[in-house]
Formats: sequence, structure tokens, C-alpha cells
Amino acid sequence: MNRKYRTTVIAGNWKMNKTPSEVKGYAEELRSILGSRVKWCDIVICAPFVDLPMAVRSFRDLKVGVGAQNVSQFPSGAYTGEVSVGMLKDAGVKYVIIGHSERRQYFAETDESVNAKVLAALEAGLQPIVCVGESLDQRDRGLTLDFVSCQVKAALCGVAPEKARKVIFAYEPIWAIGTGRTATSEQAEEVCRHIRTIVRGLYGARTARATSVLYGGSMNDQNAFELLAQPDIDGGLIGGASLVPAKFAAIVNAANQE
Ligand code: PGA
Repeated sequence: MNRKYRTTVIAGNWKMNKTPSEVKGYAEELRSILGSRVKWCDIVICAPFVDLPMAVRSFRDLKVGVGAQNVSQFPSGAYTGEVSVGMLKDAGVKYVIIGHSERRQYFAETDESVNAKVLAALEAGLQPIVCVGESLDQRDRGLTLDFVSCQVKAALCGVAPEKARKVIFAYEPIWAIGTGRTATSEQAEEVCRHIRTIVRGLYGARTARATSVLYGGSMNDQNAFELLAQPDIDGGLIGGASLVPAKFAAIVNAANQE
């Protein structure tokens, strides 16, 4: 983390878990643990679409920002089943995860659709959390840095310099997601630093220095402190451990280290 130059972000990704009626109880439990202590990081919960209005209401006084897990690249119209950036914005949503590996893998998201969604989100004033990361096969073949470079460059294609620093990146090695197998802090730091180098090449040192790069993949209350101690890891995108308020709060507290 480097709190002098950029925001630390601890973001939960609930994936397809929790119903609207479960949101309030979660928020109350989180409130009872976190209290009103000074928080040195931005806290975000990315919830399923139908949970969002309840999440916006329940998390407001906790200063937890609410994010969606996907969004349409189109502004409106005949796209059955889709949700637009304007709808999210109107609902009080501030963030949106774009290009999570589960969406790339199961729902045919491509670098092109990721880029279109990033542009749409930024245009609407939503902060995109763009996920990138290699498969185990790519890592074994030594392709990690090249592959992640391509994903980062594709996501940022056509993003204006003044908007680039709004893009949050999450490095999520596919082999670490939901597997209990976390990247070592050295592996995670190497790729997060590389992402910053790519941003520097595209937008210059000031933007790169201000860009938040998160790590995701089996992050939990046991390994968070060490991961967050790395200079280029500015927070976490947390799946499984974000479903339990006590575990999520412990990661938030790990981000509060000096
Ligand atoms: P995990 O998920 O923490 O359950 O590994 C992370 C993610 O997919 O964002």
C-alpha cells in the first residue's frame, strides 16, 4: 500500500450470494464490528443486482460504497436481461466490477466487451474495478506478465488521460480464485507492480502513482496483512471471505496498518 499517493480499497465481491433480505443483517453485523473507528481505506461491497437498492440504504451510514458485479456496455434499449450504467448510477451505486474471470470464462466476456464497459462506466461516473489475471497454464508457461499487459492495455483503450486514474485494477490469478491457494506476496506484488508500469507507459508517472491496484484470489484475514504490506498492492477484491462480516472486517483492519 502507499496511502500517500493512492486510495487503499477493500472490496467484497459477494458473487451470486445473499438475498435482499439478508443485506441488512450483514450491514448491522459489520457496523457492530467496525464501529466508527477511523478507516484508512475505502470499503466497497459488490452485490448482486437485486440486492443493490437495499445495500445502498443499509451501508450508507457505514460509509461503505456499493458496487455492481457487471454492467451492460449499451446505454439503453432492447437488451433483455441487461442493466445499464445509468440504472446503477440512479440506484446510488458507485463502483462496478468489470471483466471478472468468471464472466470471461462462463459468459463470454472479451477484452473488447470489457473495454466497452469500462468506457461506459467512466462516462457515467461509475468507478470500474477491472479484473485481470492469468490461468495456471499461462503462469506455468511464463506468460503471466505479457498476458496481463494485454488485458490492461485492452481495458484502457480509448480511456481519456483525465479519467484513467479512476480505473481500479484487480489482479486476480485465476488459479487462486476460490481455491484457497493464494498467490505469494512476491507473486502478487510482481504483477501489481507490472500493472502500474503498464499504466505509467500509457498515461505517465503521476497517473500510475495514483492508480489503485488490488489483489484478489483467496485473500483472507490470515494472509491480508502480508499482501497489503507490499508497496504496489493497494487493497483487495475478496470473494469467499467477504460473505462473513467478521472475516471481511478483519481484512479491513489489516488495511489499517501504518
Ligand atoms: P475468492 O474470490 O476471494 O473467493 O478467491 C475472489 C474473487 O473472485 O474476486
